[in-house]
This record gives sequence, structure tokens and C-alpha cells, in this order.
Amino acid sequence: MKITLTGSLGNISKPLAKQLIENGHQVTIISSNAGRIANIEALGATAAIGSIADIAFLTTAFTGADVVYTMVPPNFGAINYREYVAGTGKNYARAIQQSGVLRVVNLSSIGAHLDAGTGMIKGMHDVEIILNKLDTVAVKHLRAPFFYINFYGNIDMIRHQGFLGSNYDADTRLIMVHPDDIANAAAQEIQTSFTGKSVRYLMSDERTAGAVATILGTAIGKPELPWVGFTDELALSGLLQNGMPEEIARNFVEMGTAVRSGKLWEDYDLNQPTVTGNIKLEAFSQEFAARFNNQ
Ligand SMILES: NC(=O)c1ccc[n+]([C@@H]2O[C@H](COP(=O)([O-])OP(=O)(O)OC[C@H]3O[C@@H](n4cnc5c(N)ncnc54)[C@H](OP(=O)(O)O)[C@@H]3O)[C@@H](O)[C@H]2O)c1
Repeated sequence: MKITLTGSLGNISKPLAKQLIENGHQVTIISSNAGRIANIEALGATAAIGSIADIAFLTTAFTGADVVYTMVPPNFGAINYREYVAGTGKNYARAIQQSGVLRVVNLSSIGAHLDAGTGMIKGMHDVEIILNKLDTVAVKHLRAPFFYINFYGNIDMIRHQGFLGSNYDADTRLIMVHPDDIANAAAQEIQTSFTGKSVRYLMSDERTAGAVATILGTAIGKPELPWVGFTDELALSGLLQNGMPEEIARNFVEMGTAVRSGKLWEDYDLNQPTVTGNIKLEAFSQEFAARFNNQ
């Protein structure tokens, strides 16, 4: 099959491309950076260099593809995050229509069933609706939970403040996933002849936030590493002090409130995956320790 992937050589698209190429598919990878052409070609893929903001470019990159993998890259410069994410979804929808693509695997998020109160996930709710309006196109939304690798963003917190934390307490439930498990699920769906519009939830592991601190802490030689729950106000001021743009910081804090209330997991609980990812938190903790020790 001919498959076009957005997401460049990112956390999911790179292992996804490798699998698809190993299975004999012709893969085109979209990147905004011409400096990545050599690495994309070294994988055995074709590079399509341009921006996902450019519908004409996307249409050309999608034309001839049997399946397209869509994802919205993080953009911490966005003035309005929801509009950025939904706008990217609209670009994908236009390009899918104009190129005649008939199957799409879309990276979405746990919590995308909700229209409000979920921070950056609100835009992914919009993207699902936008893609579901494409009448003749089969769309599979992969609703991924919290990436384990988000904890790389807490390494300075652990090193300088001696704890892990967010605006929810140690006994809060966290559903998590390894990017490689997402890539495996995406590869599986891309190579399956699904029809219609549907959602598939992903997960690699589920723990409390406190257990996450203990397991990651143990891997870095700090088995007593505590999880500290902050108020929303304290979480926001901490993110702003660390230089995060206000729009992004407010979205993070709002997402944390949905984790705290459990609202984020409600639809997941009703539609839990029968097959889960292979990479448990203990296995990821070794990758975390390698990153911690090198950073
Ligand atoms: N973090 C979570 O817990 C979580 C949970 C659920 C869903 N998600 C979703 O997962 C996404 C992240 O996926 P990921 O980790 O695989 O992404 P990633 O590793 O951040 O890769 C995204 C790549 O997209 C490319 N890109 C950025 N802007 C572009 C543009 N304007 N045009 C073309 N390409 C562009 C960049 O590569 P180049 O520099 O080569 O262009 C970037 O490396 C999030 O944005 C969110 O939508 C995240």
C-alpha cells in the first residue's frame, strides 16, 4: 500500500514508518524541515517537505495514498490552542477530500469525547468531528492517553525540587501509554480494512500518580520520590515561572482538573480496550532513568 504519514520522524511516526516499511509498504513522511530528508530516506521512505498549514502541499502529499495517518503536532506558539488544533484538522479534511483519500487513521486523545474542560484535548474533540463529516472516508480515531514520555518534562522538577507533581494528588488515577505501543496500534489499523467512523482507545498501563513517582523514582535511585499535588493556582504560577506561554499553561492546568475529577477517563471506562500495549511503566522507567542520567 501507499501510506502518507504526518508527524515527521516524531515519537510515533518514526517507529510507525519503520514497521510499515518493513512490511513492504511505500511510505511518504511529511516534515516541515528539509534537513530531515536524508534521515527520512535512510529509513526507506519518501520525504514530503512542507507545512501542515498548507492545504495545497498536503493535498499533493496525500494524493495516491491508500491510507493517511494524521496527527496534530504540538505548537507551544499557538495563540489559541483549540483553534490551532481544529484548524489543522480542517486542513487535513480539505486535503483528504481534494486528494480522494478513502482511509484515515487519526491520532486523537482520551477525553476527546468532551467538548470543554480538557485543556489542549478540546481541539482534538473538534478534529474528530471535522474528520467524521467526510462522508465517503473511513476514519479510525486512536484515542491515546497520557504519554509516559511527558514525564521527561519533569526531570528538572525532580532534580531541583525533589518531587514529581501536578495539580492532582498522589492517589489520582493515571492512564498512560508508550509511543511505541501507539505506533504498533496505528500500524495495525493502517493495515486493516476498517470501514465507517470509529474510536479505538489505547493504553499501556494504569497507576496512581503516587505509584508513578515511586516507580520512576526507584529507577533513578530515589525510591522515596514523592508525588506532590498542587492547587490550580500554584500549578499555573509554576508553569509561568518556568517560561511556559500563558495559553499553554492554562490549557495544561485545565487538563489537570479533568484528570483530578476523573472526567477525562469516563468514556474510556465505558469502552476499555480488549488489547492493551505491551510496555508497562516498569519497562519505561528504565528509559526514563537513561534520559534522567544523561540530561
Ligand atoms: N502527550 C500526550 O500525552 C498526548 C496524549 C494524546 C494525544 N497526543 C497527541 O500526540 C501529539 C504528539 O505526537 P508525537 O509525540 O508523535 O509528535 P512529535 O514527536 O512532537 O512530532 C511531531 C513532528 O511534526 C513535525 N511538525 C511540526 N510542525 C509541523 C508543520 N507545521 N508541518 C509539518 N510538520 C510539522 C515536526 O517535525 P519536523 O521538524 O521534521 O517538521 C515534529 O517533530 C500531540 O500533539 C497530541 O496531538 C499527545
